[in-house]
Amino acid sequence: MKELEQLPIPLLLWYRENARVLPWRSLPTPYRVWISEIMLQQTRVAAVLDYFTRFMDELPTVEDLAAADEEKLLKLWQGLGYYNRARNLQKAARQVLSEFGGVFPDTYEKIRRLCGVGDYTAGAIASIAFGIPVPAVDGNVLRVVSRITGDSSDITSPARKEEVAATLVKIMPARDPGDFNQALMELGATVCLPNGAPDCARCPASGFCAAYLTGRTGELPVKAPKKARKKETRTVFLIFHGKKAALRRRPEKGLLAGLWEFPNEPAGKPEQILEAWGITPLFMEHGGTGKHIFTHIEWHMDAVVVETAADTLPPGWVWADRAALHSRYAVPNAFHSFEHIVGERL
Ligand code: ADE
Repeated sequence: MKELEQLPIPLLLWYRENARVLPWRSLPTPYRVWISEIMLQQTRVAAVLDYFTRFMDELPTVEDLAAADEEKLLKLWQGLGYYNRARNLQKAARQVLSEFGGVFPDTYEKIRRLCGVGDYTAGAIASIAFGIPVPAVDGNVLRVVSRITGDSSDITSPARKEEVAATLVKIMPARDPGDFNQALMELGATVCLPNGAPDCARCPASGFCAAYLTGRTGELPVKAPKKARKKETRTVFLIFHGKKAALRRRPEKGLLAGLWEFPNEPAGKPEQILEAWGITPLFMEHGGTGKHIFTHIEWHMDAVVVETAADTLPPGWVWADRAALHSRYAVPNAFHSFEHIVGERL
């Protein structure tokens, strides 16, 4: 606690000098802050910038988002991953219209009721867009606080997160709580880096940081190891008919729900799988391998390139040409390894 009490003033001075200029910071309306914070969950600032700009161009208001076509929304999100975040955004936009009369809610508790908004996001929106002094504790903040206080509790535990939030409430300045929260995140993202690589020479807290002063920045924070991810081997079918590729829509629930994909199945004999689909190959060759890591699962993929003479496909599948693949169908990054093969043929 005594370390953290020394933090606000040097942190805010540092932030004023070092804050990155970001579009949602230059114009922090509730809508813009909300969209940016959802995009920034699990995704780095640099990767979010173009998505954010495009999203604001296409859907500049909460009404636009509520009314957007789902396919268009998923297309705007394509590549960011965690697609349920995009669907929840739309549900929440509809909530703003139905529950809050079209006005973005302006208290922490009301913001927290929006679909897809947890403690962190509610804290970020409330403090940044409305100046309400509530903390916003993400992974960066947990790391910074653990190091400064020299605390070796497991930061993956929900109880620890609550404890950090309760501690931060006590030291937050009443003025500019949004700047204070963003400064903590910014310090974590740019200076107090994870994996034993902090740049303590540039840190405004090095004079009182317990981890730095006792040489423990490499040991802190403590994180319980994650459960091993399940590995799946899959065969991906790149099926071409002239200058078109076959796509199918994933189920409405579960992994990559509702997105479009190159048909794929648990690894098996390609001939048998194609036959079950009623597809007769004219030509077939190996299309290389790919790997994609999701939160709880890993896909290890082998691709098969197939040319077919007939244009019949199982129900619900589509033939996509280059333009449709580019602008209509949202295909997740999981299939990125095979993009060049598809690009060469369409
Ligand atoms: N990460 C998530 N939200 C952020 C913000 N507002 N500033 C800096 N890093 C962030």
